Amino acid sequence: MNQTQNEISRRRTFAIISHPDAGKTTLTEKFLLYGGAIQKAGSVKGKASDRHAVSDWMEMEKKRGISITSSVMQFEYEGFCINILDTPGHQDFSEDTYRTLMAADSAVMVIDAAKGIEPQTRKLFKVCAMRHIPIFTFINKLDREARDPFDLIDELEKEFGIDTYPMNWPIGCGVEFQGVYDRDGHKILAFGDSHRGRDRLASIDCDLADTEGLDKLIGPYAREALIEQVELLDGACFDFDLEKVRCGKLSPVFFGSALNNFGVEFFLEHFLKMTTAPLSRRAGEDTVSPFDPFFSAFVFKIQANMNKAHRDRIAFLRIVSGKFESETEYFHVQGGRPLRLSQPQQMMADSRQGIEEAYAGDIIGVFDPGIFSIGDTVCDKGKKVTFEGIPTFAPECFAIVEQIDSMKRKQFAKGMSQIAEEGAIRIFTEPSGGLERVHVGVVGMLQFDVLESRMQSEYGVTYKKYPEPYTTIRKIGGGIDPKNLRLFDVKWVKDFRGNDFLLFPSEWHIRHTLENNEGLVLLEFGSEA
Ligand code: G4P
Repeated sequence: MNQTQNEISRRRTFAIISHPDAGKTTLTEKFLLYGGAIQKAGSVKGKASDRHAVSDWMEMEKKRGISITSSVMQFEYEGFCINILDTPGHQDFSEDTYRTLMAADSAVMVIDAAKGIEPQTRKLFKVCAMRHIPIFTFINKLDREARDPFDLIDELEKEFGIDTYPMNWPIGCGVEFQGVYDRDGHKILAFGDSHRGRDRLASIDCDLADTEGLDKLIGPYAREALIEQVELLDGACFDFDLEKVRCGKLSPVFFGSALNNFGVEFFLEHFLKMTTAPLSRRAGEDTVSPFDPFFSAFVFKIQANMNKAHRDRIAFLRIVSGKFESETEYFHVQGGRPLRLSQPQQMMADSRQGIEEAYAGDIIGVFDPGIFSIGDTVCDKGKKVTFEGIPTFAPECFAIVEQIDSMKRKQFAKGMSQIAEEGAIRIFTEPSGGLERVHVGVVGMLQFDVLESRMQSEYGVTYKKYPEPYTTIRKIGGGIDPKNLRLFDVKWVKDFRGNDFLLFPSEWHIRHTLENNEGLVLLEFGSEA
């Protein structure tokens, strides 16, 4: 193996997904602690200050107007070079969140043990499942009152249609949380006062038949419950199958408490054993392997700068094959032009660094003078790789946006259509209407704020916005004339290409509309592509 191959084979690139508050930030920080990327022995009490290390820097980035901290973090652990792709939560939720998953080779799904699957987990899971990437589940906050663990895994299996394999099993929860039982290692990792930061705890070998030993460790009540549950698990649970893990059909489940740094190291160790080096990608008829001897990468995210003083954009590229060198001239396939990637940089936990080189599996951010689009490819000169497209994701929040100043009609229309072209927002018009009053559709609410600020700073336009109750969009199919549709509380709109869509406030409205309109076919958004 040459040096490049060696670097590539130790890369692991995963996305971390969860509903807000499940503990994604806390878990990420613990990973970074293990990697030594945050130079600080964290502790339960030190959690707030751990977070400072990262968030202070984010604050700095915000002032500069670019927040790429949350995009990707790289750290070293036991010889592996790990890239964590964060998927922005809650307010920042946008199409970018979904696109980020296109750059990952596996996903870690964090679930709050008291809440189980929540709406955002559900949405993100769907995108991971679409790509058949391995999904690892970390059920967090066992130190608090939690739902029955059997219930939780049952919910995962039923809702997501995947098999699960609990790698460890919790012994109690909340104030009675005593630790976890490592099913394959036959060990108990006891939860105690000694969970401080980077301390590595030795687990205790445990034979479930050793009544006396177990009683000493966890008490007779917990021992009996554990034995019963492990028997049930062994009998009723799916068998472990690495092949199924690797194609996303079986999710290994880990129980722990990120805040207490409990179960995190166990997770990392097993995760690294089960994941593989960067995945190959389809490029038309061909497949590009990370070990192919040429450089290739694709743009999965473009971040416009919200700060007026810094109009630039950052394009994020996932390297698919070979080695990137900052001095080399590459080829932008869609632009048909050679180019040098300007100011390449990479995140190292709490600092952004200019980089000279990077390898397949890595994510690099480069300044984009406005030449890139999502899905574009950059590769060695003489190669013309184009990777399979990044899917379009349906908007889920809608608002009417209306221009106020008729003197600025042109700027309004130009701004709206240009921003829509970038893919940050979707614009729809009334079937007989013009561009002075449009329906804007976005994946996350924050995009409305971004739109407002960009329209103001880049096009000098302010407008009125009226939120709409719609949550689901479908394309009209079946050759039906929309004029003849019988619609109740459902909106008919058109996109730029003249395609007809319906906006629905709920699933019920979809069913109701179908029942009332014979011959109507509703297609998923994006199916026009
Ligand atoms: P997120 O990124 O998924 O949104 O979640 P984040 O890590 O910010 O965690 C959300 C809240 O849950 C935080 O509390 C965090 O301390 C807490 N938390 C995370 N992991 C655990 C855990 O294993 N056990 C317990 N008990 N709590 C956990 P917060 O109230 O927002 O912050 P703070 O007031 O604790 O600082």
